[in-house]
Amino acid sequence: NVLILDFGSQYTQLIARRVRELNIFCEILPYNQIPEDLSSFKAVILSGSPFSVRSEDALHPDLSNIKGKLPLLAVCYGAQYLAHFNGGEVAPSDTREYGRANLAFIKQDEVFFQNIPANSQVWMSHSDTIKSLPVNGVKLASTKDVENAAYRIEGEDTYAIQFHPEVYHSTDGAQLLKNFLVHIAHVNQDFTPNAFVEETVADLQDKLKNDKVVLGLSGGVDSTVAAVLLHKAIGQNLYCIFVNNGLLRKNEFENVLAQYHGMGLNVKGVDASERFLSELAGIDDPETKRKIIGRVFIDVFDDESKLLEDVTWLAQGTIYPDVIESISVKGPSATIKSHHNVGGLPDYMKLKIVEPLRMLFKDEVRRVGATLGIDPELLGRHPFPGPGLSIRILGDITPEKVSILQEVDAIFINGLKEHGLYDQVWQAGAILLPVNSVGVMGDERTYEKVVALRAVQSTDGMTADWVHLPYDFLMEISNKIINRVKGVNRVVYDISSKPPATIEWE
Ligand code: XMP
Repeated sequence: NVLILDFGSQYTQLIARRVRELNIFCEILPYNQIPEDLSSFKAVILSGSPFSVRSEDALHPDLSNIKGKLPLLAVCYGAQYLAHFNGGEVAPSDTREYGRANLAFIKQDEVFFQNIPANSQVWMSHSDTIKSLPVNGVKLASTKDVENAAYRIEGEDTYAIQFHPEVYHSTDGAQLLKNFLVHIAHVNQDFTPNAFVEETVADLQDKLKNDKVVLGLSGGVDSTVAAVLLHKAIGQNLYCIFVNNGLLRKNEFENVLAQYHGMGLNVKGVDASERFLSELAGIDDPETKRKIIGRVFIDVFDDESKLLEDVTWLAQGTIYPDVIESISVKGPSATIKSHHNVGGLPDYMKLKIVEPLRMLFKDEVRRVGATLGIDPELLGRHPFPGPGLSIRILGDITPEKVSILQEVDAIFINGLKEHGLYDQVWQAGAILLPVNSVGVMGDERTYEKVVALRAVQSTDGMTADWVHLPYDFLMEISNKIINRVKGVNRVVYDISSKPPATIEWE
């Protein structure tokens, strides 16, 4: 197990991802929450930070239980921190040090730099520079502009680097992390999906014993994998509830429910479409829609779980980015992130929470799902927002609009699948605009709805770019939509990236 101490860098999550890619388990904790008992950790990594070690509000935790006692890798701010407080000197740099650089000098015969070629490209992002090394510092590498790009402390397994090995632009970053973690710290590379499943199932059995657990399934990857994992651990003591809010894709409720039954899950489908749609009638403000959907969902879920007897646990498909977001150190440049919660689950005073995926990244959840034998099609599904089609129907929602949009969406999504484009796109969907436009069909004037198609590429939904879908494909889909869906006479394609636009229109 590796501990990553977060000093608020935008790249801290990436360090964790790179470490996990080496099949090594790691955890991120804020710099000021160092556990007293470090016995489960084999190595520690200090992240970068938006702060300067020279400033008054610099973050300075006490590392005396770590430095010199455990293998330690300090990145960027971490490297400056170790220098500044151990007899070295950190000063503002004369030249800006951002972006691409090359390791012009690498000290020979260092395990830390084994299998890393001369001139290896590294990524810099700092405005302070290490002018002189700390006590017992040994210079390991330099770039053209940065003399002390890497150093170690003699007599300790302490290594420090000014550049960021975690970003892809540092071409040998993964090798460097491997050199440190595997060859210097001797951490085992045993964190595989199989091992995760075995360990988690055993832990869940130990924790839950014969208790009953309720879980809300959404049809998405996270809740499905959480359910299958729990089912493997406690079998029929897991009760799943799948709510139809009337805002799902065409036939999705029936199809996904059948799939869940096929997987042996103990799942109850609850069709609450009318309840949702009647509460949403006449509402056109996006945030109000979200709130209503969140509230009604809780009511429905609550009613259903009350019908179950002796349930003591609520399971959730929370994943690691949500956890990190809630504990992360907020620096001056912290990113602005809107919260997309459907409203959060109720404060179940009586129910204890179990979150079997809370330490996994999305791609790891998918791999665990594959290990569990879940249908690859289900695992590869695009993300779909909790409020469903409600935030893709701009303005107020009526059952007619829902059914128009379901038809349009189905033509688009099926088209992507038929043309082998679905897996090349991160998320796609259709938006029903509150606009009528004039058209002509046969000899008749029409005055009907406009729909927009959106397909984006992204890794985490935080930033996204529109996908350059082939014109022929767009032409075919547009024809199909206008010919088959009554009430629509115009199709447009959204060519906005996020930022400044968002993925959803509301
Ligand atoms: P935006 O529109 O903010 O969306 O670019 C980013 C990702 O979040 C999804 N999204 C939501 N998910 N409840 C959800 O569960 C919401 O209210 C919500 N709004 C947006 C969106 O589909 C995309 O994947």
